[in-house]
Amino acid sequence: MDNQRREKLAAKMDKLGLDAILVADGCNMRYLTGFSGATGYVYAGRERTVIMTDSRYTTQARQESKGTDVLEVSREAGYPALIQRLLQEEGARCLGFEDGAMLYRTVRELQEKLAGIEMISVGESLNELRRIKTPQELEKIAKAEQIGDQAFAHLLEVLRPGMTELEVAAELESSMKRNGASGLSFETIAASGIHSAMPHAAPTGKKLEYGDFLTVDFGCIYEGYCSDMTRTVVIGKASQRQREIYRIVLQAQEAALQAIKPGVTGAQVDETARRIITEAGYGDCFGHGLGHSVGLYIHEEPRLSPSEMSILEAGMTETVEPGIYLPDFGGVRIEDLVAVTEDGCRNLTFSPKELIEIG
Ligand code: GLY
Ligand code: MN
Ligand code: MN
Repeated sequence: MDNQRREKLAAKMDKLGLDAILVADGCNMRYLTGFSGATGYVYAGRERTVIMTDSRYTTQARQESKGTDVLEVSREAGYPALIQRLLQEEGARCLGFEDGAMLYRTVRELQEKLAGIEMISVGESLNELRRIKTPQELEKIAKAEQIGDQAFAHLLEVLRPGMTELEVAAELESSMKRNGASGLSFETIAASGIHSAMPHAAPTGKKLEYGDFLTVDFGCIYEGYCSDMTRTVVIGKASQRQREIYRIVLQAQEAALQAIKPGVTGAQVDETARRIITEAGYGDCFGHGLGHSVGLYIHEEPRLSPSEMSILEAGMTETVEPGIYLPDFGGVRIEDLVAVTEDGCRNLTFSPKELIEIG
């Protein structure tokens, strides 16, 4: 664990009054130690940090964590015995655990077996350590987003009426893999025609038809970090109404991008976009929040939403993804991913945003 992360974790443990924390969330394990196997636990005590995992992952853990102790769990005694031993060695009495990342029955078993130990739920508070990204993390996120840009450029070369939504998704996904992505940051959305009015539509065998909107929302994982972007195009020539809706969404998105800077709340940025969509008469057609942070997980805090009172700080990431969805007509969403800077934001997404007509 590097010094900055160790200090942030120690401050968190002080605040929560803990002697040790049992880290169960795979991304938090990776953030703290480098181990990407997401299997087992990280014990973070006052004196030592230990990765506990099973024999399938011990070699990987030693390679990835560069110096953190790795203990192999015994098939017979299981994790409780190992955790008990570490707590005893450090004289720890108060153990935090990530309840959002553990099964109820696992917590019950630990409570029964760790005699004399007070177990305190820390909820998702370790995620707070990851809110502000380091320059190295931001470069990985930017690279993941660049791979997304390459995939969208590739899609524009092959897109034609008659392709199915599933084929569209496959083109994006194979391009991202060919350009270095290790996986997808979420299931690709490729929604055409009236399907595009469903913000999270799954791709189907429906063929792209002349006059359809096509919304693609996709992202990949690069060195553990996620990307996220959305573009909407028209198959054939756009109608007046399609142009109008697209123009409003783009205007809302660009206004929100302008509004992002340290010191504003997530709610203020959301309101900037929402007001434009509402004043155009489509407020009821934008049901979701404006955006979210992105990092080791695709959806991180803080959000850009009407209820988000967190203040943006340099080093945070945010997506900006307003949409208008009309059930019998179709929908438009445009999503960029940005990094908050000292005086504004840096857009990590470079794909074009003028309305593209295919064919
Ligand atoms: N579809 C995932 C997102 O844009 O948040
Ligand atoms: Mn998205
Ligand atoms: Mn998103």
